[in-house]
Amino acid sequence: MSSAVPYRVGFGEDAHRLEAGLPLVLGGVPVPGAELGAVAHSDGDAVLHAVADALLSGLALGDIGQYFPDTAAEWKGLDSRLIVQRALELVRGRGYAPVNVALVVTLDRPKLGPLRAEIAASVAQLLDLPGSEVGVSFKTSEGLAPAHVQTRVTVLLGRTEK
Ligand code: C5P
Ligand code: MG
Repeated sequence: MSSAVPYRVGFGEDAHRLEAGLPLVLGGVPVPGAELGAVAHSDGDAVLHAVADALLSGLALGDIGQYFPDTAAEWKGLDSRLIVQRALELVRGRGYAPVNVALVVTLDRPKLGPLRAEIAASVAQLLDLPGSEVGVSFKTSEGLAPAHVQTRVTVLLGRTEK
């Protein structure tokens, strides 16, 4: 049983190497026009991996590698939405639910601004939140890591049981 404080903060991050000829999916949203996509055992959705780790970390439940080992054949090509759903179940099982999310994607190309609302809505839907509770920021690496995507996510968890 977790301590009964009303709020707990979680933080997660992820990174994937990018290569030509692979799809790029961020927050459950395919990125049109991406010349490079994520090298990964799963679908390589670096936003959802960081969201899941943020959920787990808020309650000190470890990280997604413990629940979905990237050596397990059964998880190859895994839809990362399932990873978030599992993390959310664990959080709910401890009597907490997400309140709001702040996420940052660092990617040089393409520009993601046009996808901001879609990514926010997609992540919000997975967490059963209004889109207004998911803040989405984009940064470039200023050319330091052109074949790389980096994500960072903070989540606030609120206690649902008295
Ligand atoms: O990294 P930098 O501060 O130069 O990014 C400038 C702006 O470009 C960001 O504030 C963001 O709005 C946008 N951006 C974007 N898509 C990216 C990276 C940055 O829309 N892949
Ligand atoms: Mg990942």
